[in-house]
Amino acid sequence: MAGPDLENMAVTRLVTEKTSGSCGQPSKQALVHARADANGKLILLGEHSVVYGMTALAVGLPDALRVKAVPSDSIRLELSVPGWDLYSSDEDNDIVGELLRFVRDKFPVQCGYRLLVETWLPCRAGLGSSAALCVGLLKALSSVLGKELPKVELNDLAKEAERIFHGIPSGIDNTTSVFGGACLFLGKGHVSPPAGFDSLGAGLSGAYTAPVDLRLVIGNTGIPRNTKKVVEDVRRMQSMKPAWFKSILEEMDHIALEGARASVAADPAGLGKAMKKNHGLLREIGVSHPMMDLMVDRAMRAGALGAKLTGAGRGGCVVALVPGGDTVVQARVLKYWNDLGAGCRTIDTGPVNMGMERGRS
Ligand code: MEV
Repeated sequence: MAGPDLENMAVTRLVTEKTSGSCGQPSKQALVHARADANGKLILLGEHSVVYGMTALAVGLPDALRVKAVPSDSIRLELSVPGWDLYSSDEDNDIVGELLRFVRDKFPVQCGYRLLVETWLPCRAGLGSSAALCVGLLKALSSVLGKELPKVELNDLAKEAERIFHGIPSGIDNTTSVFGGACLFLGKGHVSPPAGFDSLGAGLSGAYTAPVDLRLVIGNTGIPRNTKKVVEDVRRMQSMKPAWFKSILEEMDHIALEGARASVAADPAGLGKAMKKNHGLLREIGVSHPMMDLMVDRAMRAGALGAKLTGAGRGGCVVALVPGGDTVVQARVLKYWNDLGAGCRTIDTGPVNMGMERGRS
């Protein structure tokens, strides 16, 4: 496998030769190993409303998922994600089989591959596990074929792949997974982003990035949920109460924009306030859960600047924003949440330090 000097590269590729046997071909051939990394994502403001074209802010979770592609004697793509107890192949008649066929269709490798995925991301918990898997697999197989995908192209493919899991995703999960850092999706009605945000690049209109330096505690309720179903339920609510729903969306958009402004203006209290308000509105549209409400409440009592559910909701993760220089509040949130049985970890989203400090989960 790749040498230690390649250890920190996002995608690595190693070619060796074999004289016969593999892939059922008798002649000499290249055996390409590849390795690719993908970010997880954490939505600070604007989940659900982003589906309707409103403003949202997310941060990438670095070093979240790694795919190792190793040539095999089988003709299949065989995926294993031990952390999720997930094993599948491109011959399987399930959603992951469909994803593997999609990836192979885009990058038609000639022989079979074992795709081993290492990840600390919990599955179906609101941290972008499916987007990270799509991104990691696309990067790994394109690398096997010697193609270096431009990020915008990778992002388009990852969004297409995400449809297999989520129907019609907004694109915030795959974009944050591909680009990392802080990603602002500017709502449709706005012409320019708050000062401090720059365009994420050509081909990504409405998406911006900024150095955002925050300390976050993430707590996993351990309650699984299905993004597609929650998004569909919200859509039903929109059709039942359109006027009410529109006013909630507008408020969410306003809050997300205020929070984004605060995030670059070194005003964590302002961002925290926006997060707390956003949680209240998410609750109103029925995507919270009593455990999530309890965790938000405990985090606020612990002195957090703000807290909310993150991702589709009805289970999965809660995020709390805590003062950066003050580990007392952070420790209190961790304790309160641990006491409730939630697995926790802390991240710093600084422009340079996007490092992950492992917690209990
Ligand atoms: C899921 O991580 C975020 C949602 O807003 C869905 C989406 O944006 O596609 C709930």
